[in-house]
Amino acid sequence: MDNASLSRKTPQASELAADEIPEAVRDHPYLEAGGSQSKKKGLIWKLVGLAAVAFGVSIWLHLNFNFFPATSRAQPTQKNPAAATLAPGSAPSPATNSKAATPDNLLGHLPYPEAPAADLVNVTSDGSIKLRTSAAAKYQEMANAAAASGIYFAPISGFRSVDDQQHVFFDVKAERRQNASKRAEVSAPPGYSEHHTGYAIDLGDGSSPDTNLSPSFENTQAFKWLEANATAFSFEMSFPKNNRQGVSYEPWHWRFVGDRQSLETFYKAHSLKK
Ligand code: DAL
Ligand code: ZN
Repeated sequence: MDNASLSRKTPQASELAADEIPEAVRDHPYLEAGGSQSKKKGLIWKLVGLAAVAFGVSIWLHLNFNFFPATSRAQPTQKNPAAATLAPGSAPSPATNSKAATPDNLLGHLPYPEAPAADLVNVTSDGSIKLRTSAAAKYQEMANAAAASGIYFAPISGFRSVDDQQHVFFDVKAERRQNASKRAEVSAPPGYSEHHTGYAIDLGDGSSPDTNLSPSFENTQAFKWLEANATAFSFEMSFPKNNRQGVSYEPWHWRFVGDRQSLETFYKAHSLKK
């Protein structure tokens, strides 16, 4: 077929009779009036603009007010504790003050890895209590500072392996006929103790051994000194009163958060991601 035949068989739009245009199209107001194409384009651009504004507003609402429910937000898993949503020891909120508040908890306790054995050093001369090197050094500095004020700490427990905790949680507590929930009020299940990290230490007051591992430790000089000075050595109480993990008040249990590794252990893995 030659070009001449082609052009004969393809009439230009201007040659089409009005009747050849489908009625639905013919009646459209934007096609009837002059400049209809540019009006149509204008409408499309207005719609695109409106959609962009609506999208921007929804992003802003979400970022500022968590406006939309996070049904699709990544939930933490054992493999990805970074997605967990609790800062241990932080103040409770009415909505989350429950042992079931964290998706990745067990009876209110959070999962922790065991410290590498090569990084554990003694903090007592008999070698029975160990912490990770960085925590041990800072603990020693802190103990020396307290001793200079006539206050002597009595370390009770430092690093504990998962096996140690297994014995405490399952054997000792069974002998005491405590159910799982009762056990968890004062002891973490194996795999979930801050003591596994080598950054946590239980302290007593050398002059008040009767207060060891008791809430009454808060009345000792050692506790008062810790309360006033521990942060200067990057130690903090893990389980203050009414902590959001629902763990009992443990004024004797302190953790080191003075280097990147320890800080990440306690805050990155369990920080609130709202
Ligand atoms: N007593 C604390 C919660 C522990 O067992 O790790
Ligand atoms: Zn402890």
